[in-house]
Amino acid sequence: MKTETTIQGLAASLQPARAARKTIGFVPTMGNLHEGHLTLVREAKKICDVVVVSIFVNPIQFGPNEDFDSYPRTLDQDSQLLAEVGCDIIFAPSVEQMYGSKPRLTNISVSEITADLCGLQRPGHFDGVAVVVTKLFNMVQPNYAFFGEKDYQQLAVIRQFVRDLNIPLEVIGVPIVRAADGLALSSRNGYLSAEQRQIAPTIYQSLKAAAQALQQGETLSQVLANIKATLTAAGFVVDYVEARTTELQKIEAFSEDLVLFVAAKLGNTRLIDNLQVKHSA
Ligand code: PAJ
Repeated sequence: MKTETTIQGLAASLQPARAARKTIGFVPTMGNLHEGHLTLVREAKKICDVVVVSIFVNPIQFGPNEDFDSYPRTLDQDSQLLAEVGCDIIFAPSVEQMYGSKPRLTNISVSEITADLCGLQRPGHFDGVAVVVTKLFNMVQPNYAFFGEKDYQQLAVIRQFVRDLNIPLEVIGVPIVRAADGLALSSRNGYLSAEQRQIAPTIYQSLKAAAQALQQGETLSQVLANIKATLTAAGFVVDYVEARTTELQKIEAFSEDLVLFVAAKLGNTRLIDNLQVKHSA
């Protein structure tokens, strides 16, 4: 496994694979890797000859009061984990390497599907994601890129701009990896106190109960209200509880497959989760 920190070094490392027309898989991350990230790498290994994982905490997708400075940076530990799952190349550029010294005057902004859910509380977040992911796509030029359904709205945004801009690669979505108690794995779970960690699985439990209630005929608005009440009673400050179609369109009743979305804070830690509910299960 090689680790590259410059765009030129990455290009040089990838050159033999490109020359041999090998299939390149790409997993973008911000590091502090856990089993969710590693599952993306394993999926990439299944269908690609060469797998590149980027580790870059992207400043332009963090809001002014968010955790850019405190975001965990654990490159040595990450490298060890990536070696174990067969990653071929780690790309870990500095902010200077990624953004250069001249001002950036180009933005990539996906409308409509970024207007609500996480887009509402995190203005500019998805533009920041779209810009860095596009830059990384241009650096790596992969055949396949892998993203988790944990960040369902992010995955939808990436699929959208890849389609809109004819970026020549295939986006592959990977189901959420959870802890044994149901909590969706996230680098931000590390911020939770022992007590908060005990409470955190309530998110998934309330989503599962909601899915069951929907399938038993309870109304969508009642089910969403129940999730909110359960989370508030458990000590969360709820940011949103929403339902959308699988394409992120608004939905008033359980009339087709839908996705339930939650964002809620425990103390200063903001957790997100989602669950797809099949209409004809
Ligand atoms: P990060 O939060 O590090 O996540 C990297 C990838 O891992 C994303 O595609 C995310 O959806 C996936 N992932 C995280 N937790 C997961 C889980 N429990 N199960 C399945 N997949 C999971 O998302 C980002 O970084 C950044 O926004 C990035 C795309 C790298 C752009 O900066």
